[in-house]
Amino acid sequence: MTHWPHETAITVFDAVTSTNDTILEAGATDAPEGTTHIAHCQTRGRGRAERQWWSPPGGGLWMSTLLRPRVAPSTWSGISLVVGSAACRALQSLGVEATTLYWPNDLQVGDKKIGGILCEVRSRGARAWISVGIGINIHFDGTSKPDQEPPPSDVRARATSMTECGAPTSTTQLEVAEAVLERLWPAYERFQDGKSIPELVGTDLAHVGETVDVRTGLQSWKGIVRGLGERGELLIEPTEGEPPESLSTTDGVIALTGGEVVYGNKSTGETK
Ligand code: BTN
Repeated sequence: MTHWPHETAITVFDAVTSTNDTILEAGATDAPEGTTHIAHCQTRGRGRAERQWWSPPGGGLWMSTLLRPRVAPSTWSGISLVVGSAACRALQSLGVEATTLYWPNDLQVGDKKIGGILCEVRSRGARAWISVGIGINIHFDGTSKPDQEPPPSDVRARATSMTECGAPTSTTQLEVAEAVLERLWPAYERFQDGKSIPELVGTDLAHVGETVDVRTGLQSWKGIVRGLGERGELLIEPTEGEPPESLSTTDGVIALTGGEVVYGNKSTGETK
């Protein structure tokens, strides 16, 4: 059964610059939490670090949802992981069982990216709101739209799509949207009720117990992933190299809030 704690109004647009733009604008009005925009295509879809996000008609789910969290803004950094975990479980339920979450915001199948989360915050006076942007590649091959352009080679090299990973070719945007939102709302409620990020994300987080390369500023070092901190930080036990002294260590573990983590040869800093 669909669990909608809010009056979720879903609007589907043909083309927008970015659904994060339209939801951030909606947030400045009295649009209720849960207002959701989906676009068939985005003309200026963006990913983390202002990278472009490939988002042509028929290629995937390009969706943003408005949140107005009642909890302290200092805790909001964890929301991206709560959303990522909900999206990860949604993909698993739709036939892409191998989906995992790479900190901080990548949905991955093996070493290929299948989706990502981009949370952006705006405020006016005492009011603040978040656009939770979710991008999930559904079709790379034009199965939903015969005239669909294939992804450019750089995206192709790093990314995959649901249908390439075992989901039926009949999979639609709305089906994926519903599967994500159904899991997102209860997880978000539990987050606001005080459940911790590590508990909410559980085993969706990839690489726990594995060694990763980390780049923070000009420094590169290695460490073992120990899990997530209370606010969604990546806990890493340094094993090689010199982490910057500005990163404080508790019981031999650094709580990473930024920087680039390299898993195998692939970095989370990439667009897809
Ligand atoms: C990333 O992995 O870097 C995050 C990608 C987020 C893409 C989604 S698609 C819907 C929303 N609108 C955007 O412009 N970006 C997000």
